[in-house]
Amino acid sequence: RVPTKFSNEPLTDFSREDNARKMRSAIEKVRGELGREYDLIIGGKRIKLAKKLQSVNPSNPTEVVGVFQEAGAAEVEPAMQAALKAFETWSRTSWEERANLLFRVANMLQERKFEFSAWMVFEVGKNWVEADADVAETIDFAYFYALEALRLSQAKTPIQLPGEVNTLKYIPLGVGAVIPPWNFPCAIMAGMTMASIVCGNTVVLKPSSDSPAIAAKFMELLEEAGLPDGVVNFCTGGGRSFGGNVVNHPKTRYIAFTGSKEVGLDIHEHAAKTQPGQVWIKRTILEMGGKDSIVVDADADFDAAVEGVAQAAFGFSGQKCSACSRAIVDERIYDRFIGALRERVAKITVGDTTKNPGMGPVINESSMKKILGYVEKAQQEGGRLILGGVRDEEAGPGYFIKPTIIADVAPNATISQEEIFGPVLAVMKCRDFEEGVKIANNTEFGLTGAVYTGTQDKLDYAAQEYFAGNLYLNRKCTGAMVGAHPFGGFNMSGTDSKAGGPDYLLLFTQAKSIAEKV
Ligand code: SER
Repeated sequence: RVPTKFSNEPLTDFSREDNARKMRSAIEKVRGELGREYDLIIGGKRIKLAKKLQSVNPSNPTEVVGVFQEAGAAEVEPAMQAALKAFETWSRTSWEERANLLFRVANMLQERKFEFSAWMVFEVGKNWVEADADVAETIDFAYFYALEALRLSQAKTPIQLPGEVNTLKYIPLGVGAVIPPWNFPCAIMAGMTMASIVCGNTVVLKPSSDSPAIAAKFMELLEEAGLPDGVVNFCTGGGRSFGGNVVNHPKTRYIAFTGSKEVGLDIHEHAAKTQPGQVWIKRTILEMGGKDSIVVDADADFDAAVEGVAQAAFGFSGQKCSACSRAIVDERIYDRFIGALRERVAKITVGDTTKNPGMGPVINESSMKKILGYVEKAQQEGGRLILGGVRDEEAGPGYFIKPTIIADVAPNATISQEEIFGPVLAVMKCRDFEEGVKIANNTEFGLTGAVYTGTQDKLDYAAQEYFAGNLYLNRKCTGAMVGAHPFGGFNMSGTDSKAGGPDYLLLFTQAKSIAEKV
């Protein structure tokens, strides 16, 4: 199935028994495959190392999802050499051939959707809906970037000079380091990888150590789809010892990264340092954190606003860079809003995600401690705990935190400014809509944001004044759809790369203008 026009992959309706049954059986199939060992794949060769790392299920940390090789500094050169060698041929294959690989990937993922979702249920604690959306977005990226590649292959100069044939070609960059996060461990990992290779680049892929299994499954699928050896080199390993040294390597042409602000800025700094033998300026494509707000006006559709805030704050335990971490509410409805939100959020079930609760665990122990530290700090700084704020012991042995609401948070308090990446929502009061938008803009980030208001002028005001790469009017601030909501943020949220948009592939290419006298 090769589409000529893009449309988003439909999400699975798990209230239908046939779908729920397929998901349960995929979970049982994956359960039977837990704990296997996966090799590095460099230039198509399987490599084992003495040092290993383990991926565990955050709902049940004694359950090992997979065992992986821990690449370090010694593996950087072989991985780079394999990628450089593959670049010689891959960069010269046609756009059509590269796009066709992605179409095959999309088709295969459609066939194996439930299985890929099940891996994320085990490895990162996504519930079924969140896992399914992650796989659907991966399918979308495959189709979208394949179609975008075909469009780019037809690029033309806007002007033809008399007496010349003027052409514009987009050529690949070289070897890219792809460093994805664990929170969209399929979609973002695969999205950055597929954008790279469809443009003719080759890749050293270093998955997050919290989610290497889903990346290994994707690598297997790429190979099955016909990926030539060395085009993607699968290297699980240390962030600094392996990832850092790939970033520093003089032959690394670009770095595509999604993750924290701290790591993103570190990559940016190291990439800027020219190494001996380096003949280009390394490019960085960085998607970092957010401190995203929803502003709720007094005349908003109240129920829609409560629902939007609850979903955007607590979907996947708030572990999205797009998550609503601040609700800024007009003082006229503030108390009523907190009451209604508390009632809605208290209904969220928490537990092991194989059973499909409303919310699963957070990713690991250090994350859990950090999140609970923020809850403490928020209260020391005057925040009023409305709900949650503690570990959920009843939910199981995993890293479960109760959905947490803290009210009366000051706009400059620590939890108003720093990214928490957990199920913690700060609620604060504003005098009016304009002040609400001002507060929303008072952070160093600029990723997503939303407003709920019944007044057109205020929607127009937000469209103009709210400084966010992805702004949503009268809807929640998570769940960007490929094609409709090109994704990426301003300021410390990154390079505004706009994944899933018409400009994205340009970041993975360089333009060559050719003029022939006739
Ligand atoms: N694209 C995701 C969202 O919009 C975040 O990475 O929620």
